[in-house]
This record gives sequence, C-alpha cells and structure tokens, in this order.
Amino acid sequence: MRDSGVVGNDVVDLTDPAIAQHHNRERFVSRVCGVEERARVVTAFDLWAHFAAKEAAYKALVKLGFSPGFAHRDIRVSADLRAVRWRENELELSVAFDEQCVHAVTWSARSPPVLARVARARGEEGAAARALLCELLAEGIGGSADELKVVRDPVAGAWDGFGPPRVERRGATIEADVSLSHDGRFVAAAAIVGNEIGRLTPLRLVPARPAPTWAH
Ligand SMILES: CC(C)(COP(=O)(O)OP(=O)(O)OC[C@H]1O[C@@H](n2cnc3c(N)ncnc32)[C@H](O)[C@@H]1OP(=O)(O)O)[C@@H](O)C(=O)NCCC(=O)NCCS
Repeated sequence: MRDSGVVGNDVVDLTDPAIAQHHNRERFVSRVCGVEERARVVTAFDLWAHFAAKEAAYKALVKLGFSPGFAHRDIRVSADLRAVRWRENELELSVAFDEQCVHAVTWSARSPPVLARVARARGEEGAAARALLCELLAEGIGGSADELKVVRDPVAGAWDGFGPPRVERRGATIEADVSLSHDGRFVAAAAIVGNEIGRLTPLRLVPARPAPTWAH
C-alpha cells in the first residue's frame, strides 16, 4: 500500500443504448444500490454516477489492501456525490459528467492533489487510456509522455490475472498512483503524484460542463 494515497477512476459511456434503460430495471438497480441510494436513482445519469463511483472506489480499495468483492451495494455513495464509504473506510469522490458520459474519481483522504481526465477514445480503448494517462502525468510532473510506460504486473488470483497499473519512466517506476478506465467511446485516467517529484494542478471538485476532455 502507498503512503501518499491511492486513486481509482471509472468512466461510463451514456450513449450506449444497451444501458439506457437500466435505471428502470428494479433488479439491476437493487443489485448496484442500497436502499437510500435507490431512492435517489431516477435517471440514467443517477444510476451510472453511483455505479461509476463504486467501480472507482473498488479500484482504490483494492490498492489499500482490501477485498471488497463483487459488492456494489456495500460501497455506499453519499447523497452529494462527494464521498464513498466501504465499511469504516471513507474515500473522497468527484463526479464529472455531460450528456455523453459520466466520470467518477475516488481517492484516499489527505492525498496530494489528484489529476484526472476523460477523453474520446482514439483507436483501441486500452491503448488510448494509457496514452491519456501518460499525457496527464507528463503535464503533472514535466517531461515527455513518450518516456512513460504503463505496466501491469501479473498477479495470481487477480480477476484478469494482473494487478493495478503503474507507470515507469525509462524503466524505473515513478512515484505515482494511477488508474485507468475505458468504456465505449470514452477513456479516462487519474493519478496522484508524490509531491516530491512534481508541480501539480489541484483537482477542481465542481462537475465540468460538456467538453471532450476536462479536469475535475
Ligand atoms: C476491476 C474492475 C472494477 C474494472 O472495471 P471495468 O468497468 O470492467 O473496466 P474499466 O475500463 O473501468 O477499468 C479497467 C482498468 O482497471 C484497471 N484495473 C484492473 N484491475 C485493477 C485493480 N485490481 N485495481 C485497480 N485497477 C485495476 C486496469 O488498468 C484496467 O484497464 P486495462 O485492462 O486496459 O489494463 C471490474 O472489472 C470489476 O468490477 N471487477 C470485479 C470486481 C468487483 O467486484 N467490482 C465491483 C465492486 S463494487
């Protein structure tokens, strides 16, 4: 576990017709949301904002050494979309959105400022998300995105066989916690960079208005 904080992020493509009516499907909503949260789910945005917050929190909680399992309902999102709680652990939350996608970022409290961005995917989603993360980090810490490489190490028992992503510069892991997400036409990335190596743009906690890319 990192001392300087962890981050998780998740993007949902709201233009996917396959998910447009899930907020009206009681069984799905109940699987994702607890009783209090269910009362808040009226629109597709409401549902997917909660879902993205929980997926982002899952990615951060795993890095804190927890195993939340397949338990969306157990990860609770505050009514103001500013915090996520799992058992006694609370993470900060920021949700940015427009009519095309919703992007949630969670991070451990007292972390250094968080960098986050969402963009339209150009080319293959995984590669596009990695390129976005390298771009974001290069802006945060200086230097060229071309020198950065996203690596996921094999981990036995992990759901897809690999651990969370990390970033190397010229072969050495950089002091940053990072997160990737991709869904449909959108890719997203988030990072917390150790203060010692960078000048940072603080995260803005106000949801952004429609734009192809934004910082939270
Ligand atoms: C891990 C999980 C959250 C990924 O979310 P997703 O919506 O499927 O996909 P996303 O595009 O948002 O995220 C995928 C990225 O997460 C990252 N990731 C994978 N495992 C990770 C982990 N253990 N911790 C942090 N990040 C991880 C990877 O970088 C991956 O991108 P890549 O495949 O291009 O390398 C999701 O697959 C999942 O839910 N797994 C089961 C765990 C679970 O119970 N989740 C719900 C709990 S609320």
